[in-house]
Amino acid sequence: MRLSYLLSLTPLETWRLARLRLPGLKGGPAWTPSELLSSGKHGRGIRFAELLLRQEAVARRHMAWQPLDFEGRRAVEIGCGPLGGFGPLALFCGAVSFESAEPEWDAALFFSDEIRERYLRTFHADLCALYGPRMDFAQFTAALQGRMTIHRGGFEAAPIAGPVDIVLSQSCIEHVFPLEATVGKLASIQGKGTRFLHLVDFGNHYPTGNPFDGLYDQPPAEYIARRGKAINLLRAPDVESLFAKHGIPVAMVASRVMKDSFAGVIHPWWRERYDDTALFTQLALVVSPSA
Ligand SMILES: C[S@@+](CC[C@H](N)C(=O)[O-])C[C@H]1O[C@@H](n2cnc3c(N)ncnc32)[C@H](O)[C@@H]1O
Repeated sequence: MRLSYLLSLTPLETWRLARLRLPGLKGGPAWTPSELLSSGKHGRGIRFAELLLRQEAVARRHMAWQPLDFEGRRAVEIGCGPLGGFGPLALFCGAVSFESAEPEWDAALFFSDEIRERYLRTFHADLCALYGPRMDFAQFTAALQGRMTIHRGGFEAAPIAGPVDIVLSQSCIEHVFPLEATVGKLASIQGKGTRFLHLVDFGNHYPTGNPFDGLYDQPPAEYIARRGKAINLLRAPDVESLFAKHGIPVAMVASRVMKDSFAGVIHPWWRERYDDTALFTQLALVVSPSA
């Protein structure tokens, strides 16, 4: 793990990474409420609305994209993270159900008083400001209790049945090993009009000047052997082919391309297989072609 990454975290997040690795402390929970609430990323539920607004704006530049309408819909997310990801937003906006599978899911943590008072109350107020006062806080928490099902484990094996209306993920597809089973599961739950919106981050996930620093010095198997199974190193064309292979019609939309600031070495393994567009697209959306 890079020092620059550790320095970008809050002290509690750094402590969490240490305690997950230290002999004697291993085996504790994936997250504690304090660690989540101190995190710039996890501590703000409205981040998911900001992400959705941004991604839909990018998609609209490339296709006749209609905003996702959750009213009366079944929504699903791959790897929603420890605080339910897009779930609270989807339910607030009228989804009949939200289902996800997340290896780090801990229902007791999510439904704790601390998360309700310090996370969900602010999230609910922010949702009301953005989408209108569709439900009060008691109705919101009742919707989370009654209409949100999150399975602890991998999405590929989760008992989620189709057809579903909306499938989302945020920075998850690049972390799944192997991705093929998960895309197969998506194929099994898609219906005629299922809409997909996935954001994939193909960068190194470190706060380096260029998001591809260190990624292309060696073939991916060597990178993974050195750093562990954190990112699968598939590139956008690989993800697109997997969806096509499983009969899911999607388009890839680049939402961040970072070529000019790259100054590193590119091993022939990468050059022989990918063009510059594939190598330097950091963020891409995997979206239903038009809706
Ligand atoms: C970078 S985190 C993103 C979490 C969340 N989407 C967010 O934006 O906060 C990647 C997530 O993918 C989850 N994940 C990894 N493999 C998975 C799998 N096979 N099925 C479902 N989720 C998985 C991890 O547990 C982790 O929560």
